[in-house]
Amino acid sequence: MKNILITGGAGFIGSHLARLFVNKYEDYHIVNLDKLTYAGNLENLTDIENKSNYTFVKGDICDGPFLKSLFEQYDFDGVMHCAAESHVDRSIKDPLAFIQTNIVGTANLLHTAKNHWEGNFDGKRFYHISTDEVYGSLEMGGGFFLEDTPYDPRSPYSASKASSDHLVRAFYHTYHFPVVISNCSNNYGENQFPEKLIPLFINNIRHNRPLPVYGKGINVRDWLYVQDHCTAIDVIFHKGRLGETYNIGGHNEWQNIDLIHLLIKQMDQKLGRAEGTSKELITYVTDRAGHDLRYAIDATKLKDELGWVPSLQFEEGLSKTIDWYLANQTWLDNVTSGNYQKYYDLQYADR
Ligand code: NAD
Ligand code: TYD
Repeated sequence: MKNILITGGAGFIGSHLARLFVNKYEDYHIVNLDKLTYAGNLENLTDIENKSNYTFVKGDICDGPFLKSLFEQYDFDGVMHCAAESHVDRSIKDPLAFIQTNIVGTANLLHTAKNHWEGNFDGKRFYHISTDEVYGSLEMGGGFFLEDTPYDPRSPYSASKASSDHLVRAFYHTYHFPVVISNCSNNYGENQFPEKLIPLFINNIRHNRPLPVYGKGINVRDWLYVQDHCTAIDVIFHKGRLGETYNIGGHNEWQNIDLIHLLIKQMDQKLGRAEGTSKELITYVTDRAGHDLRYAIDATKLKDELGWVPSLQFEEGLSKTIDWYLANQTWLDNVTSGNYQKYYDLQYADR
């Protein structure tokens, strides 16, 4: 039995990753360490919470002594590090929270794992999950992010993620600490907190609330279904070469306004509204400060070296995602109204 630590496993991507690993690898014991910030939600994991190869631990990656005792308790063979503050708009309002968790927290985790594994890195692996936003912003129609694209982060979020990537590489070069990194494009799918574009707009369309489009809506993002991100993480965790970086993306660029029109089309249909009804909710608002124009990933290395390709077309993935949010309105209401704390207290607080 291998003990694998997933950090941030109650969040959007981490919960899909924990589910994939718990169900696919019965010989792995998955320990999910999460602070349960506003973005962490144990309701994302109810289907695996009682599995014998799964344990949830509430804790903060910034707490060094706590991490040390967790490594002593479980003697982890591998780490998949997802925990982070992840929303650009929040990073503009409160950059220090991002510096604390994304930089100090990652440094703590590296330091703890290195000390615990010291002298015997054989078979060990520290996988750092990162973002394409570290590369900065592309011109319209002007190339793609490659693994050797120079870092040029432009928001407190992307700068904090870039710093953590540098620390991970520094541990590899300095200590031969066994790392692998991936940088993925924008994810969408079930269980994403409704502050990011797609779930926020699904929720607002559902409630007939305004859809705040930043600037002119011309910015481009490269969207990947969250479960495809997790299959890429699975293959990189097991087969990726140590010290390497792999870009993950689905060659799926959308200008925000075009994506919003597609979302409206699908939602009007599903909600039984006349086609285009929800277009009147579109509200152009002041642009995000420092708004990156375009992200686009070239994932050729991952395809050529490890054979990974995404499984889902965007229209199909978006439709599945909308269906999930419409079928899980209680989840949406809980995370937006604060009822989640009651769920946590009921299920876990007294354990
Ligand atoms: P998320 O905000 O949904 O989840 C983050 C999780 O980390 C939450 O469960 C939260 O409680 C936990 N957490 C936060 N601070 C913590 C701390 N100090 N200690 C322990 N746990 C803490 O984020 P996500 O969208 O699932 O992103 C996960 C990772 O993937 C992040 O590192 C992010 O940078 C990266 N990423 C995200 C995307 C995307 O589109 N969402 C794309 C590429 C990469
Ligand atoms: P977001 O989901 O926050 O992801 P990121 O900023 O990490 O790419 O935003 C995706 C795009 O949608 C981005 O160009 C900003 C834009 N956006 C809006 O126009 N309105 C909104 O309310 C939000 C949250 C995002």
